[in-house]
Amino acid sequence: MALIAGFSEGFHDAALCLLDDTVIVHASHSERYSREKGDRWLHPKQLELMKQAETTAYYERPWLKATRRLYSGQKLARRRTPADVCFSHHETHAAAGYYTAPFDDCNILVVDAIGEWDTISIWDNMRKVRSWKYPYSLGLLYSAITKRVGLQPNSDEYITMGMAAYGEPRYDLSHLLEENLHLGCDDVYPDARPEDLAASVQKLFEEKLLELVALCPKENLVLMGGCALNCVANSRIQGKNLWIMPNPGDAGSALGAAALVRRAKLQWVDPYLGTQLPRANPSDIVKELLTNKVCGVASEKAEFGPRSLGNRSLLADCRYDVKDTVNNIKRRQLFRPFAPAILEEFAGEYFTGPMNEYMQFTSRALHDYSSVTHVDGTARVQVVKKDCSSVLRHVLEEWYEATGVPMLLNTSLNIKGEPMVDSAQDAQRFTEKYGVNVF
Ligand SMILES: [Fe+2]
Repeated sequence: MALIAGFSEGFHDAALCLLDDTVIVHASHSERYSREKGDRWLHPKQLELMKQAETTAYYERPWLKATRRLYSGQKLARRRTPADVCFSHHETHAAAGYYTAPFDDCNILVVDAIGEWDTISIWDNMRKVRSWKYPYSLGLLYSAITKRVGLQPNSDEYITMGMAAYGEPRYDLSHLLEENLHLGCDDVYPDARPEDLAASVQKLFEEKLLELVALCPKENLVLMGGCALNCVANSRIQGKNLWIMPNPGDAGSALGAAALVRRAKLQWVDPYLGTQLPRANPSDIVKELLTNKVCGVASEKAEFGPRSLGNRSLLADCRYDVKDTVNNIKRRQLFRPFAPAILEEFAGEYFTGPMNEYMQFTSRALHDYSSVTHVDGTARVQVVKKDCSSVLRHVLEEWYEATGVPMLLNTSLNIKGEPMVDSAQDAQRFTEKYGVNVF
């Protein structure tokens, strides 16, 4: 059967997905090729891949979006790449979750900043039953506070979430939900500590998210939209079979657009869907970790989504206080936590609470390894399952044999300010820059 291409483009995080019937044969972020973070345009390599497709589908409706942008006083946007068909923004979010979910009958809750007009929508399978419209937007509020605390909106929201653990939720921000926040809210509570504003927006977001979940009657719930990356809030959802496609933001909607052409359950396996490199030898990685405590991994297909899950990862020996060593490489804010990757069999011994293979939840640490624990005693765990196809599974098995510890620090393999390493050349540049070997 001929290929179907879905793509996101024009605003931030351009992405491409190719389907061969119900098999996802490729999915990639433009930024990994262009090396420009959040690149909004498809890369020539992706456009070349797209030529194989019989049908091309775009992740939102340009004219509907244009009406909203005019209403909100924004400039009209351009799109470079033509498409055979366009679906609405929230429909592609919903489809990316629905057609990859491990169950059939479900509600879907989409929460993001803004696409066309919808900012929140609830679905009964693929039928939209309710929506909230711009300017009321939980995602725009979270981005506006991210800007207010001095970070980059549409990019650094996860840093705001990490910062929240250092503050107190002293401020009521709910009135901002009624305002047009496209220009931010830089004058709100001018004397507030950034940490307290972060804690306040996080608390409000969690409350609102739980209210929305309560409006979804079915036990099976798909959560999508950029706000589904808030793993602290996700962890508070109880009593649901929850599925979050591991790339729930706008880039993942490239997959949703393609799925809406096929309109059938996809054969979801894992998010390793991008650039292919040779498989690394786990013994080399373990040897390097035992010698130098840190080791880069660039093995097989790159992850589709914001998390490094072992194929483009920087691993470190969490038995030691390696935070400073890793931070010297990553040069990021010292308050930000690093995450652990652990063998599935030991996860319950080291952590309690929600956790899964895609790092979508936070759980409580039951151990003393401080370099993989946040200041509030939590961790965003990657549970590495027995059938995980990444070399990380074999690395952890050999690591456990050698050290008796089934866990490593796992962070994304990238030069500061750049997207994740994608190609062998990127890996080489990483080694040259930081003196860390990459296998
Ligand atoms: Fe979105």
